[in-house]
Amino acid sequence: MKNILVTGGCGFIGTNFIRYLLKESDFSGRIINVDKLTYAGNPENLFDVERDFPERYIFIKADICDRHDIKRIFDDYEIDTICHFAAESHVDRSIVRPDSFIQTNIVGTFNLLESAKSKQDQVQLFYHISTDEVFGSLGKDGVFTEETPYRPNSPYSASKAASDHLVRAYYKTYGLPVIISNCSNNYGPYQFPEKLIPLIILNAMEGKALPVYGDGRYVRDWLYVRDHCVAIWELIQNGERGSMYNIGGNNEVENINLVELICDTLDGFEKLKNNKSRRELITFVKDRPGHDRRYAIDFTKLKRELGWIPTESLETGIHKTIKWYLDNQEWVSRVRSGEYQSWIREHYDYADI
Ligand code: NAD
Ligand code: DAU
Repeated sequence: MKNILVTGGCGFIGTNFIRYLLKESDFSGRIINVDKLTYAGNPENLFDVERDFPERYIFIKADICDRHDIKRIFDDYEIDTICHFAAESHVDRSIVRPDSFIQTNIVGTFNLLESAKSKQDQVQLFYHISTDEVFGSLGKDGVFTEETPYRPNSPYSASKAASDHLVRAYYKTYGLPVIISNCSNNYGPYQFPEKLIPLIILNAMEGKALPVYGDGRYVRDWLYVRDHCVAIWELIQNGERGSMYNIGGNNEVENINLVELICDTLDGFEKLKNNKSRRELITFVKDRPGHDRRYAIDFTKLKRELGWIPTESLETGIHKTIKWYLDNQEWVSRVRSGEYQSWIREHYDYADI
């Protein structure tokens, strides 16, 4: 493996994956990070990587929906492995404005598949990062397995389901070596503060209201992002081509209990000025339309075949995550101000394709 094309590497999981690959894993090749830099993409996350690994890390600002640009990147960099993170990823945004979800998640994935197919003598793996949301919603009992039928409920999950089907079809029809993994909710450093955990941490730090949708009894299975990155790297090396794998955190919790855990952990770091418990900031708000009640992942297949298990409990992962946000408040204020795209342009001369 010499040249990995990582798409969406300036987003939350992509950033963590690139950092893991270059700083912690035994990977010895080169990473070509292609990212459009939407509101969710921030090359600042990787400035130190760029400085420390000038021969092994290349950033290209490009849109995966642009077929011409993507073809050029495949022509120029002898890509042998594609690790595809780039997506519009926020469910609430997809409900308000689904257009870019259809474009990036479906058309963008299609473009990448077409370019990979045209270089089939050289491409060893197309790894597609997907979500457990494609399976729809569970009731009180049961878990998602790799055999669970797809029943996506939001425009986001429907667009991810469509892209999964395309990836599978390129394996069946053209023999493109692919892997799809469907993962539960990630959290950890560098997550954009529109998602539940960073939003609650930051509001709680500032003593602001903590919005909990509906009755707060919705259940998600939380996975610390580094554990996800380790699983992806294992699967790239040893996963069965043409297979799907579920990845989960073994950490099912109701949203309200998660928010309470964040409040209590943060209170342990520093009290509010008025000395009140942060739990008093919890505010129940209007529910998300089509809100999936519960997700739960059975990752037996990944455990059995590759011996992977998550290492972080919800308590240890939340503690680390809160510490990261406390230690990185300048990053947070830049990202939240919305001015960071212009700050990036001033401070960083990135290669536009
Ligand atoms: P994110 O929103 O933080 O990052 C997405 C990245 O993709 C950004 O850097 C953005 O600039 C880039 N991007 C968006 N459109 C693009 C385009 N047209 N061309 C090139 N780059 C583009 O997302 P994330 O949370 O890091 O998720 C990464 C992947 O993992 C997604 O495919 C998502 O569906 C999947 N996933 C996420 C989670 C989660 O909990 N975050 C869980 C399971 C699966
Ligand atoms: O399950 C994997 C998915 O997890 C990924 O595919 C998505 O990209 C990722 O965004 C995430 O989707 P969710 O919708 O589950 O994540 P979010 O953080 O938006 O919401 C988590 C839960 O918290 C969900 O039940 C909605 C609720 N919520 C969310 C926000 C932002 C609140 O109660 N209040 C909030 O302010």
